[in-house]
Amino acid sequence: SESEGYGRLGDNSDDYTLLTHQDIDKLARAGYKPHQHASHGMIFFRKQNKLWDLYEQKGFAMMQMRFDGTLGFPGGLMDEGEAPIQCLNRELHEEIGLDLTKHAFSDDERIASYLHEGKNLVLHFYLKEVSAEEFFALETNTLHAPEYGIETLGIIRVPLFTMGDGLRGFPAFLTNHFAGNARSELITGLMAAKLFTQEDMEKAIKAYKDFIK
Ligand code: GTP
Ligand code: MN
Ligand code: MN
Ligand code: MN
Ligand code: MN
Ligand code: MN
Repeated sequence: SESEGYGRLGDNSDDYTLLTHQDIDKLARAGYKPHQHASHGMIFFRKQNKLWDLYEQKGFAMMQMRFDGTLGFPGGLMDEGEAPIQCLNRELHEEIGLDLTKHAFSDDERIASYLHEGKNLVLHFYLKEVSAEEFFALETNTLHAPEYGIETLGIIRVPLFTMGDGLRGFPAFLTNHFAGNARSELITGLMAAKLFTQEDMEKAIKAYKDFIK
């Protein structure tokens, strides 16, 4: 529950229900009210290589250290009159300085939406693949974002490899505290991007769960 353990830092994914396309259509027709909505996005690039000649590296995904000390994706709450996609693009401009003339997200990049009943909050999640070069340029640009140093305390790369002990690397990253259900969004995004096989992901989740229990 919200009042104990990880739930207090928002990362109890059991509290979030996955919404279907019909649910979303219904919400859209109702003008997205009465729930509060938020949109967050994962930008990534894929690159198969060996890190230090040792570990299979799949690429990189972008997350951020938030003002509240938890990890999350760039994004935020919908303003009055906005649609989720407009909200996402505005927030990504504010938080990471995304150049919307080149890299605006589109509606069909939404891969999931979740409802948190207790908070009356609907969370929309988007996924965008870019080239490695584009990713590096976006990263550099984040230092000039309007919200840099305020809401966004630093953009980070998620390690997408596992080291020899089966824990360090991606599984250890999962042991962090995350905002909302950002941890399960990360897992969902990496699976949707086919950066992990089902088997690799299950192994990583088991290693992280064994560590925190
Ligand atoms: P303000 O401008 O200060 O209101 O912040 P914001 O609009 O940027 O909102 P924020 O990014 O904090 O997102 C709003 C809510 O969504 C948070 O209170 C969390 O519950 C949740 N949240 C934050 N980050 C993430 C994320 O990466 N994924 C998901 N699913 N939820 C998140
Ligand atoms: Mn060193
Ligand atoms: Mn935000
Ligand atoms: Mn914001
Ligand atoms: Mn905001
Ligand atoms: Mn704000």
